[in-house]
Amino acid sequence: MINYPSSKLPDINTTIFTIMSGLATEHQAINLSQGFPDFNCPEELIELVTRHMRDGHNQYAPMPGVKRLREKISEKTQLMYDYQPDPEREITVTSGATEALFAAIAAVVKAGDEVVVLEPCYDAYIPAIRLAGGIPIHVPLVVPDFHVDWNLVKKRISSRTRAIIINTPHNPTGAVMTHQDMETLASIIDSTDILVISDEVYEHMVFDGDTHSSVLRHPSLRTRSMVISSFGKTYHTTGWKIGYAIAPPALTTELRKMHQFLTFSTVTPMQLAIADYLDNDTHYRTLPHFYQAKRDLFCQLLEPSRFQVLPSSGTYFQLARYDAISQEHDLDFAKRLTREIGVASIPVSVFYHDKTDNNFLRFCFAKSEDTLRQAAERLVEL
Ligand SMILES: Cc1ncc(COP(=O)(O)O)c(C=O)c1O
Repeated sequence: MINYPSSKLPDINTTIFTIMSGLATEHQAINLSQGFPDFNCPEELIELVTRHMRDGHNQYAPMPGVKRLREKISEKTQLMYDYQPDPEREITVTSGATEALFAAIAAVVKAGDEVVVLEPCYDAYIPAIRLAGGIPIHVPLVVPDFHVDWNLVKKRISSRTRAIIINTPHNPTGAVMTHQDMETLASIIDSTDILVISDEVYEHMVFDGDTHSSVLRHPSLRTRSMVISSFGKTYHTTGWKIGYAIAPPALTTELRKMHQFLTFSTVTPMQLAIADYLDNDTHYRTLPHFYQAKRDLFCQLLEPSRFQVLPSSGTYFQLARYDAISQEHDLDFAKRLTREIGVASIPVSVFYHDKTDNNFLRFCFAKSEDTLRQAAERLVEL
């Protein structure tokens, strides 16, 4: 009898996104849980992919990504953040932001290194840190607006701190960091070798006339940062799994060492199609307006309900507090809502290492108006 090795991640199970989407399918519920649109990507993108496939672009792409796409990303970064990364030495196209995050963490975190993580946080960070032998240092964001308590961050930094992971706009809360947050972060780590891994996959979903505070805008922060984005979010193509990382040459060299053995390269015709599509900036420039209209509709529809919606300044997520309806644990409540009223959501406790439960649910509003109306009709009944 073979003794299989013990698990390297014994406390990690199937992600909540898979669980809740599965439950939604089983109960034919409206799925506002996992973060993906229920509408299609632009038709032009589909035509471009088809054309590139027909033209024979179906073999391995270059390891760092299709050159033309890296050039386009560089131009777009200049337009948006007034900084032009070198496509040859500073941009790597990856199989989704998930791969970029994993490669970035694996590239710089060594055994015993500490990595500061702000909670609640996206679920991909902690396993990647632990697999690299690192130690996550959890710092809670401040409820109810989920701003960063930088004094607390300062207190949790030590001589062993290798990196801090930030995420703005923030999943699951919809909070966005400000220019002042970036200044404070820069001043805290200025005299250290601490790196920043900045997850900016929702960079084009910032509402109410605000602009996205990318670390790339910040001259000193960007020299120590790996910035990660995802075309899945921007172009309604989460299933294509195409993302990228922007980092200074020395960090890019190390990140690519991971990338080349994780996946080597990323799907070719989609990269070519996105490069073409990036000629036009209309889609991503109008995205804030597109998603803000959905957020406003969803919040307005929930007004007669007993849910209390929290401010969502970015992303396509809306938090709602339900303690006026029930005192159940959020995971139980989310499952019951799926089974009994047919609306699936994500309980926010899953984004905390100690499963902190504030009676919040996360709803994804990247859905058609019809879907949002049907879901709200059911939620108002509670
Ligand atoms: C904060 C955050 N980072 C990274 C990702 C992963 O992006 P991708 O689908 O491009 O791998 C997601 C997806 O939901 C996310 O919400």
